[in-house]
Amino acid sequence: SSLKDFDLIFFGATGDLALRKLLPALYYAFRDNKRPVGWRILGLARRGLSRDEYLGLLGDNCRQFIPATDFDDATWGEFCARIDYLPVDGTNPDGFSALPAWFQNRADRVRVFYLSTAARLFGPICEGLARHNLVTPLTRVVLEKPLGHDCASAEAINEAVGSIFPEQQIFRIDHYLGKEPVQNLLALRFGNSIFEPLWNRGSVRDVQITIAEQVGAEGRGEYYDPSGAMRDMVQSHMLQLLCIVAMEPPTSINADAVRDEKLKVLRALRPINAANIKEKTVRGQYRAGAVSGKPVPGYLDEPGIPPDSRTETYVAIKAEVDNWRWSGVPFFLRTGKRLPERMAEIVVNFHPVPHAILPQSASSGEANRLVIRLQPDEGVKLFLLVKVPGEGMRVKPVALDLDFAETFKHRQWEAYERLLMEVIQGNLTLFMRRDELAAAWRWVDPILEGWHALDEPPKPYTAGTWGPAAASALILRDGLAWREEA
Ligand code: BG6
Repeated sequence: SSLKDFDLIFFGATGDLALRKLLPALYYAFRDNKRPVGWRILGLARRGLSRDEYLGLLGDNCRQFIPATDFDDATWGEFCARIDYLPVDGTNPDGFSALPAWFQNRADRVRVFYLSTAARLFGPICEGLARHNLVTPLTRVVLEKPLGHDCASAEAINEAVGSIFPEQQIFRIDHYLGKEPVQNLLALRFGNSIFEPLWNRGSVRDVQITIAEQVGAEGRGEYYDPSGAMRDMVQSHMLQLLCIVAMEPPTSINADAVRDEKLKVLRALRPINAANIKEKTVRGQYRAGAVSGKPVPGYLDEPGIPPDSRTETYVAIKAEVDNWRWSGVPFFLRTGKRLPERMAEIVVNFHPVPHAILPQSASSGEANRLVIRLQPDEGVKLFLLVKVPGEGMRVKPVALDLDFAETFKHRQWEAYERLLMEVIQGNLTLFMRRDELAAAWRWVDPILEGWHALDEPPKPYTAGTWGPAAASALILRDGLAWREEA
């Protein structure tokens, strides 16, 4: 589908996300977009920079985050010609009076306000936009996560934004949904007929979803410490991945058809609360250690982290989806900072054969497994048990290996690039609907409360290891193991 002319306005334009992710993503889209559409980009932030100063700052950052082989000075120049900057403070909507002149009443253009600011400003910014008559039928607002810190605060923000924008104009970002392999999971499930008959408790033994990071608090303590891994990763990215694995086939790929099915999964999640929290969850916090051979400090010694912080940097959870399809199939989720690798994947483990006639198959628990690798090395592997060459009948799991980079010798789109283009085209499928977000928080809140009631510090783990030993014990209670331990 073709892009329309658009104006893209960033609040928080001098922030990390804008400089490191959003503008570089737009540069790629601009460079590769051969269609002669009218683009205008406006950066807004508190800092009193001139347009040239902003472009200087942007150029320095983009050169760092765009590989030199992709950076082309001439294209960069053309891109910058489309970019403007105004010192407008999101906390002070009176200052928005400079904006109407910039738009020149062009209500025929798609207008996107990307709010890359603290979520408490979302409501006031939207009100300010309305007060200055900046909201047209073609206007869309993009909300960055985290949207609130619990269900009540998320709903208050949604209420404030919703009083200005109808739901079809609100794009709640979860950048994991923009990752190519996540979309490929949809293609795999709904473009092939061979998986669906197996995609249920009859064939699937367990599902494991891992997002492992090597980075630590990264100087983001002010945001991270009050949040922790549960709010930062599980409430958003991990639950979205779980939904895409577990949802029923939607009747179409339309936004509401897909989001209805995701919502049903969230509503079917078995509650975890003070009564079962110890059995179903593990919280961890990293201590000093080494990642990729480099020594790193412990969480409590990171800048901006209170020395007595009890914030979790690691979570493992046994989730269960209480519906006909998934009854009895555990969904193990885990995510952590300062783990040995940067790695995100979804593993679907199938049941071993019911009766073992071959040595080293069912007897050792080996079985088929489907691995969807989100990063790095995006791809899909389907492990089959095959005969080891030579004498006798020994079998072992070997992967049918689909490597996306190898197969499609094509530049991988960044998640934000895709999502920005989807916003401009007005396609809501990859964005979270309000009721979906509320349902996710409704499952997360009792877990946070359960931990609070438990009043235990997170379990320490050494940076560069796979998290607290308790996480292995959690999965072992079902007679299973995390993939790298198996
Ligand atoms: C963000 C979290 O949403 O996702 C970060 O706030 C985390 O803490 C990041 O590092 C991970 O994203 P990616 O795309 O690098 O896996």
